[in-house]
Amino acid sequence: MNLFGNYPQLIIFIHVISAVVWIGGMIAMRYAAHYAFQSIEDPKERLRKTANALKRLFVLVAPFTILLVATAMIMAIAMGLHHGAYKAMTMAKEGLWTVMFINYLAMVIRRNQAQRLLDNGNFDGAKAKLGLIGTYMVPLNIILGVIAIYLGVVLRLG
Ligand code: HEM
Repeated sequence: MNLFGNYPQLIIFIHVISAVVWIGGMIAMRYAAHYAFQSIEDPKERLRKTANALKRLFVLVAPFTILLVATAMIMAIAMGLHHGAYKAMTMAKEGLWTVMFINYLAMVIRRNQAQRLLDNGNFDGAKAKLGLIGTYMVPLNIILGVIAIYLGVVLRLG
């Protein structure tokens, strides 16, 4: 199987577009949608809208998180990146993806918990759950994602 050798443009395209959707989606949510939601006067409605928007974002990015790592593995194996000069950088990117993915799963779980609290009328509990996602978890994934993109550029230039 020589997927990368046969379709290098397609593999790199899927890798890059996956990063664009995952990181770009989080940036748009955190720094555009989030502030737009602040104009909703009713705090309960604001929480409901935020939980709903996060759900849509998390469903949207799910396939791209997997496509990103699948194309990464195809490239790493085809280019022999686990041996030689690029081993450390490759492992660093794998580490970044792993932390980002665990953080993503933790956000999905937290959002589902917040949804249940909202459905049961516990708005303070839901606010605390959603607050951590917006304040720390999404920004963490944005920062790690930007570092991974930079390392991608370094790997590309060789
Ligand atoms: C899981 C481990 C990963 C590996 C082994 C890996 C590997 C690579 C390689 C080899 C390239 C260069 C492709 C080329 O020859 O042009 C690349 C580029 C890139 N990677 Fe990754 N990657 C990984 C994870 C990630 C993650 C987590 C992100 C972002 C969230 C990411 C974003 C990018 C981007 C945007 C490029 C394009 C850079 C450019 O074209 O200059 N990668 N990656």
